[in-house]
Amino acid sequence: MALCSVFIDGKAALVPTGTTILQAAGAVSISIPTLCHHPNLPPIGVCRLCVVDVEVGDFHKQVAACHAEVQDGMTVRTATPELERARRFALELQVADHPSECLDGETGEPCELRELARRYGVTKQRFVGDEARYPLDESSPVMTIDLNRCILCRRCTRACSLVQGQDILWIMGRGDESRVSPALSLPLRDTACVSCGQCLAHCPTGAIRDKRPLRPPVRPEAVVTSVCPYCGCGCQLDLNVSGEQILRVTSNFDGPANRGSLCAKGRFGYHFVDSPDRLTRPRIRRDGRWEEASWDEALDLVATRLREIRERQGPDALAVLSSAKATNEENYLIQKFARAVLGTNNVDHCARL
Ligand code: SF4
Ligand code: SF4
Ligand code: FES
Repeated sequence: MALCSVFIDGKAALVPTGTTILQAAGAVSISIPTLCHHPNLPPIGVCRLCVVDVEVGDFHKQVAACHAEVQDGMTVRTATPELERARRFALELQVADHPSECLDGETGEPCELRELARRYGVTKQRFVGDEARYPLDESSPVMTIDLNRCILCRRCTRACSLVQGQDILWIMGRGDESRVSPALSLPLRDTACVSCGQCLAHCPTGAIRDKRPLRPPVRPEAVVTSVCPYCGCGCQLDLNVSGEQILRVTSNFDGPANRGSLCAKGRFGYHFVDSPDRLTRPRIRRDGRWEEASWDEALDLVATRLREIRERQGPDALAVLSSAKATNEENYLIQKFARAVLGTNNVDHCARL
């Protein structure tokens, strides 16, 4: 593999050809601010926050580190006063029409723009634009689209198209009127959106967010990495918890099975955990009424009834329906139980329904 030797803020880095300046800087522990960049997505270079100063041969220019690739012998500076001024300017333009309550942190939602604005001491004072006023799209059962907070970074459109393969979200309009929208400006509910939430997971500002509000003082006390309980794929996710309560599920982009992707159930279907309707103990119906029972009692009853049916009507009067929530090993055991213990080949699985 061809390698490039570069110097970044005086540190030497030897990286494969094709590495971006941002990746090379990361390899030598130099952090460059970004906004439209997401490591899960191909670069697009629209926010210019990651601007760096490069010199190679006669070439001396400011380029977007997320997009530009290293060249052998390149010298990169990432934090000169001029670059910091350019970043502050880009942020001032971004916040000019951004909702004030969002920048003041009153929304309770995390926001990368707000974090960067605070870091650079940027307020709305220098450029005052009309604050965007778009109606919310609340048509999705799980997400709100609030274009007032959108900074047109296009992470959502790239995630929908390139990660999920759905192509629901586009940039519509031109110039000042550019906005994220499904084709024909349809409400999200009227599109082929599968409610996977990849757009939400990649959105840096909360312009696309979970419908269940997360407002102060209910903020996550901890983020616990866990495995989705819905099927045997083993998708990793992060549970944002406060005490015993799950406030929200967020993507874990390091999960080896899913790299941050989740289906609608895994991302949004966590309310069953503390639902009052959730069954946490076995129940036995006696005289038409459901009564709580111990596991021993319930399992004894099931074993007795299975034996009775098999003796009376033969093993093929029984069938076993297994679950995608179980692991491969558990599904193997259940078919073994059906064939070797009950004596029937009547085995099926909910994933086939
Ligand atoms: S939820 Fe999934 S399918 Fe729907 S718009 Fe977002 S990324 Fe696209
Ligand atoms: S909705 Fe979010 S991810 Fe999409 S362009 Fe706007 S800010 Fe970026
Ligand atoms: S992060 Fe590089 S241009 Fe936006």
